[in-house]
Amino acid sequence: MSSSAPIGVFDSGLGGISVVRQIVKDMPNEQVLYFGDSAHAPYGTKSPEQVRALSFAIVERFVRQGVKAVVIACNTATSAAVNELREHYDIPIIGMEPALKVACDRGDVPSDPHHIPQRVIVAATPLTLRERKFAKLMERFDSDNEIYKEPCPDLVEIVESGRLGDRDLVMRTLHGYFDQYDLNRIDSVVLGCTHFVFYREYFRALLPERAAIIDGNEGTVRHLGVVLESLGRLAPEGAHGSVALANSDPSERIAALSRDLLNR
Ligand code: DGL
Repeated sequence: MSSSAPIGVFDSGLGGISVVRQIVKDMPNEQVLYFGDSAHAPYGTKSPEQVRALSFAIVERFVRQGVKAVVIACNTATSAAVNELREHYDIPIIGMEPALKVACDRGDVPSDPHHIPQRVIVAATPLTLRERKFAKLMERFDSDNEIYKEPCPDLVEIVESGRLGDRDLVMRTLHGYFDQYDLNRIDSVVLGCTHFVFYREYFRALLPERAAIIDGNEGTVRHLGVVLESLGRLAPEGAHGSVALANSDPSERIAALSRDLLNR
């Protein structure tokens, strides 16, 4: 497999474009083929079987296109399909999970031998929070921390329908999900869905300054780099990076929205 082959990146829709932005920033020599499955979004309210079938169809398409690796830029598709995809394909498949470890590790202060319990809200899709993969992740951290699971499906719909710029709608929706918490006691909010990364500024406005907002995009791209490097498949220095956007919804509306999110 040539190191100048593209990387396939997919999501249920437009959220994974936030991951593409991170790849462009951190790995500018790479060619990215993005596939958003907006015709079938959201994934987060579907069954794991449905999401698995949709994910396999997309990876099959990438394999035909000759990608050197696949990034599942979707926490939901990762929880439903990453193990099966890895068993089936022999190219590297990079998945994503809510960055709960990063949030909880903030309680390990070098000057203090005791872990300071962290109060963390994980915002993700209903499917991600329901799946076994997240239950196992949570088991590792919930005895030493307070972890709250908050499914936020409307935040996916708002991005897909192009209403991310509607501040009143977004803030009303965030208040609907988060007013039940005493946010002054919260140490961090984990954005456990790639669509939510586009809401960072809104979360900043919602949360007190002391609360951190954590997403997994940087860590995922770092991991992608490590895997490609170990296989000798990083794009050559000086290679010309590019992004090609494709979507199962062929409308100009989705194409324009995708370009907009990539360049915002
Ligand atoms: N962007 C996806 C994620 O990271 C899923 C959104 C959805 O389709 O429900 O979980």
